[in-house]
Amino acid sequence: MKNLIAGNWKLKGSPNLADSYISHLSRIKPDNCIVVVCPTHDLLGYIYDKWSNEFGHLGAQDCFHDDTNYNDGLGTPDEIVSRGAKYIILGHSDRRNKCHETSELVRKKVNLAWNKGLIPIVCVGEESGDRKGNLTQIVVNGQIADSIDFDNLRGPFVIAYEPVWAIGSGNIPTMEEIGEVHDEIRKLLITLTDETRGGNTPLLYGGSADVQNASSILAVENVNGLLIGGASLNIQTFGTIIDCA
Ligand code: 13P
Repeated sequence: MKNLIAGNWKLKGSPNLADSYISHLSRIKPDNCIVVVCPTHDLLGYIYDKWSNEFGHLGAQDCFHDDTNYNDGLGTPDEIVSRGAKYIILGHSDRRNKCHETSELVRKKVNLAWNKGLIPIVCVGEESGDRKGNLTQIVVNGQIADSIDFDNLRGPFVIAYEPVWAIGSGNIPTMEEIGEVHDEIRKLLITLTDETRGGNTPLLYGGSADVQNASSILAVENVNGLLIGGASLNIQTFGTIIDCA
């Protein structure tokens, strides 16, 4: 499976950053890995006007869970699709922990994203206390099982394992620890789906991934790519990580 390298700009990013991405990706036209760029919704439209499929794919960050009414705040999947996105990050720890988003709500968003033809990147991950209490796998497996409607799968999806304590901290689990969690996620997906689907769902690692550790993390069994925050805010850094993949 090709590695998937996704940049999550979160609420950062600018037209300048977007232009530097477009200029870099138009030169390298990455084809050894899948590149996904996830800017804010306003920049999504800005980038889409200048985007080519050879550069990779666009992704959105989050959406409202219901598209039947006018809703304030978050964009709807329809709006996101109209701005060229193919992927959508859902259940990021910022949403789960800072906005009290439950896995049940994430599941509604995943279903809605599938209805609109988007590929959800479903984020899961433990807090430092969970890890210290040996609860990592229980937390991660529970979030996966509850965030995705496995009885009614309607499209492809991606899992991003992002330990909450690793995000933006400069600290990452050991390669063995990443491997253990990813192996267990793989087993869980095969149990909840089947060998083909569970075996081919991309499993990304996220949390302080950068140029120093990208190659080592990508070499871990059952790691199929990276979800990158801070290091995606500079195209040279992000470009080097694409090269690693
Ligand atoms: P950092 O790479 O900045 O730690 O962020 C990871 C992340 O949250 C990506 O979704």
